[in-house]
Amino acid sequence: MKHFLDIDKTSVAELHGMIADAKAIKNARNGRPRGAPDDDLPLKDNMVALIFEKPSTRTRVSFDVGVRQMGGQTMVLSGSEMQLGHGETVADTARVLSRYVDLIMIRTFEEATLLEMAEHATVPVINGLTNRTHPCQIMADILTFEEHRGPIAGKKVVWCGDGNNVFASFAHAAGQFGFDLVFSGPEPLDPEMGFVEQARAKGVSVEIDRDPARAVAGADLVVTDTWVSMHDAPSARERRHNQLRPYQVNEELMRHANPDALFMHCLPAHRNEEATNGVMDGPNSVIFDEAENRLHAQKAIMRWCLTP
Ligand code: CP
Ligand code: NVA
Repeated sequence: MKHFLDIDKTSVAELHGMIADAKAIKNARNGRPRGAPDDDLPLKDNMVALIFEKPSTRTRVSFDVGVRQMGGQTMVLSGSEMQLGHGETVADTARVLSRYVDLIMIRTFEEATLLEMAEHATVPVINGLTNRTHPCQIMADILTFEEHRGPIAGKKVVWCGDGNNVFASFAHAAGQFGFDLVFSGPEPLDPEMGFVEQARAKGVSVEIDRDPARAVAGADLVVTDTWVSMHDAPSARERRHNQLRPYQVNEELMRHANPDALFMHCLPAHRNEEATNGVMDGPNSVIFDEAENRLHAQKAIMRWCLTP
């Protein structure tokens, strides 16, 4: 079963293949109306379940549009409205859904839910974000970087802010795509060291630098994300804001990066918190290309999942 659970669980060759495929899929549409099908319909006659236990705009819409363009049909399911949210086990949900649909995408809280779904489903499962990782986002980000700047291998990527699920998938990607990564954030919000060590073991440099100006020196890409993720306790908001304020990505900080350094944010953003409007809407920002590329990257991921 070809599940897409995390970037570190997929081979380097397959990851490169998906990025190449995403570029080809994007180019092939060439301005076609959004509601028009692709020439190639790898999801023809396929039914896809999109399960959300957390809110979503990009993941929901990009998967839905992508499936339809590839000839399939979708159903968007809210976790709380399924029996899953009322005591049915994840394993039974996986077994039942596998009798109706050909592919499952799930956005959930605990990684264990995703893994249990994958273990018991007899159709491919895609990780649409857990508390720990967000691989589809980073596949779109790699596609976006490479469209603007060429191969990401050997480049320097600097993450400013919370060591969260999106950072974790960047660390997975650093190891697989071969770029160097710097984390700059407050110690209490450090990423799990396992992500850092795993990337280092694959031969890339992953540093932690508490000084954001020094961290972004020579950066080819500066990335940030919300200071409070969907799984974080609302009561932690004020403390997190106080801890993370020094790591805001603003025009002054970007002056320390390479002049052509790109800026990325997976969105949704809290403007003028983790990044200023000047940076988000500035000439080096590619945030809306990232959002668009969710569509193309995920079409490549789904095609990979369904190709024997
Ligand atoms: N970036 C991202 O996953 O956005 P959504 O939460 O809107 O899906
Ligand atoms: N870190 C954020 C990403 C949202 C797409 C969250 O988990 O809420």
